[in-house]
Amino acid sequence: MIEPEPGSSDKKCLKDGVVLKDVGGINYTVKDGKIVKYKKWLGDLFSPMYDSLMEKNVFPKKFGADLNEHEDFLKNLYKGIENENVLELGTGSGNLANLISRTNHYTGVDISPGLLKRAGKKFSENKFEKFGLYICNVYELPFINDCFDVCVCNLTLNFFSDLEKVAKEIKRVLKSSGVFYSSVPVKDKISSDIIIHGYVKSIKETEKIFSENDFYFEPQQFENGAIFYFKAVNKKQT
Ligand SMILES: C[S@@+](CC[C@H](N)C(=O)[O-])C[C@H]1O[C@@H](n2cnc3c(N)ncnc32)[C@H](O)[C@@H]1O
Repeated sequence: MIEPEPGSSDKKCLKDGVVLKDVGGINYTVKDGKIVKYKKWLGDLFSPMYDSLMEKNVFPKKFGADLNEHEDFLKNLYKGIENENVLELGTGSGNLANLISRTNHYTGVDISPGLLKRAGKKFSENKFEKFGLYICNVYELPFINDCFDVCVCNLTLNFFSDLEKVAKEIKRVLKSSGVFYSSVPVKDKISSDIIIHGYVKSIKETEKIFSENDFYFEPQQFENGAIFYFKAVNKKQT
């Protein structure tokens, strides 16, 4: 069992008292002596096929979008992020490893062990020296306040039933002027004959939640099917 080492490079944002167990390079939190596990997300069953499903099915058929253009746009958007402390919500199979600089200190959270295992492989192959993967729910981030420079959440916000609560968690863990980057399918852009599961919101509803939680909301001028891209900058002063 790993005891957290506050101040060590890959655990510096952990709250005091959080106990971890490392299982094959993935950190589980431990409560009352038991590993905390979550109800499996649909993608866990499909984790070996996740990337191919996204490319061949979800992107063209559900989002009406192009995966290569999505990745090129994000790569460009993240270009200036170097040597920063980056948190990702809903790491999935670790595609961010191909999109941000390996100079960053990366922390990824997800509820799916199958996908995080794949993510670990990608971050290692991309030679990230500082990265940590955590099985945890976005509603209960085991991190201290004001610790991350950047938070990223791609194609995942629509799975959160309480986006307001998640926005508050993002605000809590981001530093003052820290930036939240997201891509998410939105009602306004989805074709009427397509059903996207989860809690899909409109651009206005998304903007309202982030603005009311004291972020500067900045839509990005890029069209790619049903996907909406935005930045939200934390107004918090520390
Ligand atoms: C569509 S995938 C997106 C993965 C990745 N960000 C990408 O762009 O390919 C959604 C991810 O969100 C994770 N997820 C869903 N609900 C979650 C929650 N409450 N807390 C943490 N992760 C969650 C799923 O396990 C899955 O890996």
